[in-house]
Amino acid sequence: MAEPMLQLRDLVFEGRGHRAIDGVTLALDAGRTAILGANGAGKSVLLRLMHGLLMPSSGEVQWTGIDGRAPRLAMVFQKPVLLRRSALDNVIYGLQLSPAQRAEPAARLRERALAALARVDLAHLAQRPGRVLSGGEQQRVALARAWALEPDVLLLDEPTASLDPAAMRAVEAVILEIAAGGTSIVMTTHHRGLARRFADSVVFLDAGRVAEHTPVNEFFAQPRSGGGHAYLEGEIA
Ligand SMILES: Nc1ncnc2c1ncn2[C@@H]1O[C@H](COP(=O)(O)OP(=O)(O)OP(=O)(O)O)[C@@H](O)[C@H]1O
Ligand SMILES: [Mg+2]
Repeated sequence: MAEPMLQLRDLVFEGRGHRAIDGVTLALDAGRTAILGANGAGKSVLLRLMHGLLMPSSGEVQWTGIDGRAPRLAMVFQKPVLLRRSALDNVIYGLQLSPAQRAEPAARLRERALAALARVDLAHLAQRPGRVLSGGEQQRVALARAWALEPDVLLLDEPTASLDPAAMRAVEAVILEIAAGGTSIVMTTHHRGLARRFADSVVFLDAGRVAEHTPVNEFFAQPRSGGGHAYLEGEIA
């Protein structure tokens, strides 16, 4: 058996007197994982801990190396963070920051950034200031910026929130394409259909704890935890 891609051990995150993550032990294999759970369950905090953007109060986050190096991670946030410059320059800037990419000539970075924008269907808005784009367009720029980095693992925090149905389908297609290219994806979402079509397995978070980690078909047919069951029962969509 190959080693899991990521191991979390007794992970705790406490801030302002609240335990957002309350003792998470989890092994994730390469591939596609969906993290589900109610508002406030700790999904975004868990992704940030995985990425290293938050330091755990205790416990461990351990990524397995790839070919003797640390895996390249990229993340798309629940609320996209764009700089005050064009959509294209936002993507180029992401590449310039990356140790693995910045040695490339400027013209090549620009080409790659344009290609990434084209893949999320935003080539026509490349020169528009990122901050005046619609929420859905900003989300897609953020996705292009992450994708352009050619990460080994992409962490996506509700990438289809605030998108209209057409944009949602477009983003779903992009996510599936990224995954098909061999990038592992860990995604939080409230979109049950997306989770079902996308994921190999579901991690269900309940009040900062892993209530279950279940193959996707099993989760939607017969969740193992009471929390997972209640969540699915309560779903409207
Ligand atoms: N940096 C932080 N420090 C302390 N507490 C935090 C921090 N970030 C989030 N929290 C708290 O942790 C809890 C979980 O938040 P989180 O954003 O992870 O929920 P979520 O599962 O992503 O919810 P949603 O579905 O609404 O996005 C919340 O009560 C939140 O207020
Ligand atoms: Mg969240």
